[in-house]
Order: sequence, then C-alpha cells, then structure tokens
Amino acid sequence: MAKAVGKVFIFLLLVFGVFNWVGYSVTELTGGEKKAARTGAVEVTPEGGEAIYWGKGRCFTCHSVGDRGSAVRGPNHGQFGEKFPLPMGERAVERAKEREKKTGKKFTALDYLVESLAEPGAYVVKGYKNEMAVVYAPPISLSLDEIKATVAYLQSQGGEFDAAAINKPGEITQGFYGKIAVASAAGGGDPSHGKVVYEETCGDCHSLEGERGDVGPDLSTIGTKGLKFISEAILQPAKNITKGFETYVVVKKNGRKVVGLKAGEEDGTIELVTKDGDEVSIKKSDIKEITQDKLLSVMPDDLSEEMTVKDYQDVLSFMLMQKGKKK
Ligand code: HEC
Ligand code: HEC
Repeated sequence: MAKAVGKVFIFLLLVFGVFNWVGYSVTELTGGEKKAARTGAVEVTPEGGEAIYWGKGRCFTCHSVGDRGSAVRGPNHGQFGEKFPLPMGERAVERAKEREKKTGKKFTALDYLVESLAEPGAYVVKGYKNEMAVVYAPPISLSLDEIKATVAYLQSQGGEFDAAAINKPGEITQGFYGKIAVASAAGGGDPSHGKVVYEETCGDCHSLEGERGDVGPDLSTIGTKGLKFISEAILQPAKNITKGFETYVVVKKNGRKVVGLKAGEEDGTIELVTKDGDEVSIKKSDIKEITQDKLLSVMPDDLSEEMTVKDYQDVLSFMLMQKGKKK
C-alpha cells in the first residue's frame, strides 16, 4: 500500500514537474517575443505611426489630417471639405479599386498605402506634383517598421487597422517592403535616384537585362552578391577582377600602348576593348609585348570621387535591387 502511494506520489511529482517545465518554456517564448517588440524602435500600431507621422517622419510638413495641421503641399489624409470626402483609410480602398480596374490585377488598399511610401511617383494624386519625399532615404530615413506603423496610422483614418495584413502582406506589398529593406540596408539610399546615377555613371560600360554597355559584366543579378561585394567592386575594382574581364596591356613595336579587355583573337590579330568601349584590332606582328595586369581594372577606381555620398548610397541600393528578372 505504502509502496503504491509512493509510486502515485512520484508520478504526480513528474506530471507536475513536466507541466511546470512546459508552462515555463511557453512563458519564456511569449515573454521573449514581447521583449523583442518592446526593444524594437516602434510598435506597428496606429499610435506608433501617429508619433512617426507628427514627428520623425515629417509627414506633417506636407500633409494634414482633417483639421489637425496646416500643411497643404500634399493631400489631406483625413476627411476634409469637398476636396477630401474620404479619409485616407477609405480613400485607399477606392484608389486600389481604380487600379484593379485599370490593370486587371489584384491590388489592395494596403498595397496602395505602402506604394505611396515606397514609390510615391507610381501614382500621383490629381492636382499635385510628384514631389513627395522618399521617406526611407536621408534625411528622413524611416525604417521598415516605422513605415509599417505609419501605414497602420493611415489605415486607421476611416478604415480598419489590419495588423495581420501589415505583418503578413501579399506579394505586391511584400515587394515594396523588400525595396525599402534593401534601401535602408544600403545606408538608406534611394534606388529610384540610384537608377539615374547608374545610367549616367555606369550604364555606358555595364548592361542590365542586356541593355546598353558591353565593356563590363552584365549586372542583372549583382544584387545577390550583397552589399560588401558591390561596394568593394566600386571602390576598388582591381581588388577582385571579375573572371573573363582581366586587363591586358599591349605594347606595340612602335612604342604605343593599348590597355583593355581581350575581346577575341583571330588569325593574326588580337581584339581589345578599351574603357571607352572602342574595339581595337591589333596585328600580332605589330606587338612587342602583351601582359595581363592583375592590379589594374578597366573599371576606373575613382568613380566614387565623382559621386556625392548620396549618389554612392543611391547607386548601391539600386545595385542591391538587381536580383534577376522577377515573375
Ligand atoms: C515634401 C512633402 C511631403 C512629405 C514630407 C510627405 N509627403 Fe506624402 N505626398 C506629398 C505629395 C505632394 C503628394 C501627392 C502627390 C503624390 O501622389 O505623390 C503625397 C501623397 C501621399 C499619399 C497619397 C495620398 C492620396 O490621397 O492618395 C500618401 C498616403 C502619403 N503622401 C503619405 C505620406 C506619409 C505617411 C508621409 C510621412 C512619412 C509623407 N507622405 C511625407 C508630399 C509629401
Ligand atoms: C569604363 C567602364 C566601366 C565603368 C564606367 C563602370 N564599370 Fe563596373 N566594371 C567594369 C569592368 C571592365 C569590370 C570587370 C573588371 C573588374 O571586376 O574590375 C567591372 C566590374 C564591376 C562589378 C563587379 C561585377 C561582378 O560580377 O563581379 C560591379 C558590381 C561594377 N562593375 C559596378 C559598377 C558601377 C556601380 C559603376 C558605376 C558607378 C561601374 N561599375 C562603372 C567597367 C566599368
């Protein structure tokens, strides 16, 4: 009898122990999550977004919400007079419907709100200029979470704050989030302006999806190589010369020197492509010496000096976005 009681006691002790252990682990887990949310810079809620909107995000310098604020450079985000019959949360639903009708593709109110921040130029509100600030680039530099919070605030203007959708977005919004995350990882560069810098400074030599330059390598998937690789490639091109793009120095018998990439070799001639994109054909019989220069890239190493810091950050974030064709 005593033995049986003892067994039951041990059994109960075990059950109790396991129960406690499980309970403890679960609180650890959930407590851990709460902790992460607390240490994050901002809570993704309408209140969190309100603070950003009227503070760090500087939205209030161009926008007002109903009677609150006096800025008129951008549309009012509340319900305001005849011009703004719908507050932003409801307006976004209408704008998304319009878009769906126009393109025939699924587009949600959330997609619209996030697009307004990620790519302000994609839809310019009638009567306004395309002069909305890029809010994830300097000097405003909102983080992705701060942007999500701001979206929550806008959603809550006459619409419904949908935490689940903001945190687990559909494909289009996900794409915008990706763009913002990439840009802030590259020092908050603005990829739209980065594209302009690329076209001016890099596009004569490089190609994207087969377009333009053919001196240097195609950069359509360069984003997959990461920030460090790309910034080194720009700052110190010769440090890591891309295979197949080695630099050759040809000294001709008449003393002239030609520097470039080897484009081909045909009976009796060698073809070089110079940094200006010129194809030079040299007779082998005219060549005194041909050497490969491992310390010299055809890509200039002083490009960063021609750019402002902002241009550099912008072009970096544009490069990071090149991850091959999507869809
Ligand atoms: C430099 C001025 C400026 C700043 C700063 C600015 N915006 Fe804008 N915003 C505009 C202008 C101008 C438009 C209208 C043109 C357009 O659609 O791009 C606009 C449009 C919008 C729209 C679309 C409105 C509609 O009716 O569809 C949203 C949403 C928006 N801004 C949100 C924000 C938020 C949130 C912030 C702060 C994080 C912000 N803006 C900061 C100028 C600004
Ligand atoms: C005069 C032509 C020229 C210009 C201008 C130029 N590049 Fe290059 N680039 C090259 C060549 C040639 C290579 C291959 C040799 C090497 O790795 O240094 C290269 C290599 C690269 C690579 C490494 C590619 C890989 O797959 O390994 C990156 C990234 C790059 N360039 C980015 C840029 C960016 C960004 C700009 C503009 C800011 C730029 N380049 C301007 C010619 C150029």
